[in-house]
Amino acid sequence: MRPYAQMVSVGAYVPEKTLSNRDLERMVDTTDEWITKRTGIQTRHIAAEDEATSDLAYHAAKQAMERAGVGPEAIDLVIVASISGDYLFMPSTACVLAHRLGIKGVGALDVLAACSGFIYALSSAKAYIESGMARCVLIVGAEALSRFVDYTDRGTCILFGDGAGAAVIRASESPENRVVDVKIGADGEFQDFLITPGGGSRHPAHGALDKAHCQFMQMRGNETFKVAVKTLTQDVQTILARNGVSASEIKHFVPHQANYRIIKAVGDALGLSEEQVVMTVAKYGNTSAASIPMALNDLYEAGRLKKGDRLLLDAFGGGLTWGSALLDFAGD
Ligand code: UT7
Repeated sequence: MRPYAQMVSVGAYVPEKTLSNRDLERMVDTTDEWITKRTGIQTRHIAAEDEATSDLAYHAAKQAMERAGVGPEAIDLVIVASISGDYLFMPSTACVLAHRLGIKGVGALDVLAACSGFIYALSSAKAYIESGMARCVLIVGAEALSRFVDYTDRGTCILFGDGAGAAVIRASESPENRVVDVKIGADGEFQDFLITPGGGSRHPAHGALDKAHCQFMQMRGNETFKVAVKTLTQDVQTILARNGVSASEIKHFVPHQANYRIIKAVGDALGLSEEQVVMTVAKYGNTSAASIPMALNDLYEAGRLKKGDRLLLDAFGGGLTWGSALLDFAGD
């Protein structure tokens, strides 16, 4: 009989420094009122100068491992989802993180799926465990996005924040409290909706990067917004339908935190109550791959995430990529 995959713990970390809407008013032509009304964001956390993405990931991962009661020797695969890795493109942030955690000699890989990264990592962890190729996988979403934000572009700089979240995914012989289903998708047709154009092989770093600001993230916000609402709604409807689960059976809907209007639109389309929808965007902004595990950790620390709780996760981001997951939490 093949093993099942369980999410047995979560953890998270946010850097100390914050950047409020009022701070941003002094940097670009914007207002607290505009940002709050259009995005729901009030503040975001910013990594210290000496903190890179793997440093944020380390604290989140350590907490998740402690809560799962697993040491470095128990982990047999490390997956880090990030679009703001320590280095471009080598070594991977997963290698740096595994070394710092004392995890030796097992696979470590980065997943590049922007805001959908955590769901992509979860789908890989589930597949590795169910195929018997791994027994205990550490998955992390971690971002130091502030390093790639253009703080002269009011269309993007008001959105993004830094942080990390992690989970331990473990094999179990019992089907109880398992990761029931994960669904991922992508469409490169809209590759320029969210893009960091410079530094790769298309526009190498030795080109005229600074002039064009092309080492920073760029976004066609309004177009992205419309595709996000449509895709996310269809995606969650599909994963619920194919598992015969109704929206009312979901204890917590934990979507990627990009904009409260997107979250509300998807929640309303599913007929979810306010109580079911988890919203952390006000205090963290958009932390890309880290946003879902950070939100899970918030729920956990508030005493609201209990063993057996049915979770629906949902994300959308650059690529374009998207994904959703249905699981029953297996942590204590
Ligand atoms: O995480 C991955 C996926 N990302 C997303 O899903 C993000 C999706 N997009 C969004 O969240 C929203 O599109 C934004 C929050 C980025 C923008 O909100 P919007 O309601 O789509 O505004 P818009 O881009 O259509 O701009 C409306 C107006 C424009 O002015 P005019 O042309 O009407 O005069 C913008 O120039 O708002 C202006 N504007 C701003 N005004 C004050 C744009 N940014 C700002 C700003 N402050 N920061």
